Amino acid sequence: MNQESRPTSATTWLNRRGFLAGSAVLLGANAMAQKTTPTPKPAEKIPPPADKAQTPGPSAPTGPFVLAPLPWAENALEPHISAKTIGFHYGKHHKGYVDKLNKSVEGKKFAEMKIEDVIVETGKDPAMASIFNSAAQAWNHAFYWKCMEPKGGDEPKGKLADMLKADFGGFDGFKKEFGDAANGQFGSGWAWLIVEGGKLKVVKTGNADTPIARGAKPLLTCDVWEHAYYLDYQNKRADYVTAFLDHLVNWEFAAENLG
Ligand code: FE2
Repeated sequence: MNQESRPTSATTWLNRRGFLAGSAVLLGANAMAQKTTPTPKPAEKIPPPADKAQTPGPSAPTGPFVLAPLPWAENALEPHISAKTIGFHYGKHHKGYVDKLNKSVEGKKFAEMKIEDVIVETGKDPAMASIFNSAAQAWNHAFYWKCMEPKGGDEPKGKLADMLKADFGGFDGFKKEFGDAANGQFGSGWAWLIVEGGKLKVVKTGNADTPIARGAKPLLTCDVWEHAYYLDYQNKRADYVTAFLDHLVNWEFAAENLG
């Protein structure tokens, strides 16, 4: 499996498009991997959704940042993504990033900051790459879970559908570009649908890198680290990406992020 590494300051997107100055990004993921002040007891940190019974998750990490529960049961995305993949991905990889983040901010100012602010600040300093990687991966994964739902993948509606038509020529045009980005990302990383300058754009980032490090506004992401699909699809990333687009995308969540 791929290993985490320092963020690349030269992602394809960064080079091509630069920064979105001053646009604060506090999206739906705010509620997913955020600091809690004061720190509640572990039992209060992760209230299990009563209407979404799921396999008991891993224990809450100790620290200011929390591992939010999955929005659905671990087997809810089958047959497209197995419970085994979700169990490892969430319970080992995602939890590991949150745990590492909490450990790395002990006694530092970052322990008192919102995770989005930690990402922006540490993303500017290569010496902070370890904290950046953990924070960005904690945020990216929390966002990614919400980008999927059982029986998803239907066509978006309303304003988002109109923008997809204007900026990609339609839904099929978007899927082609997003699929190309997801499949074309060399090594580990993420494919994103973002808003930039009032237009929708598809970008890709390497390793832990995330558009919110530069103030961009993501609507949707697909994790293309091998740990996201290898147990189910082995090296056939394209099949996983197709399943994501055709059967899993939560377009209501993407529309909420558009605002
Ligand atoms: Fe992942």
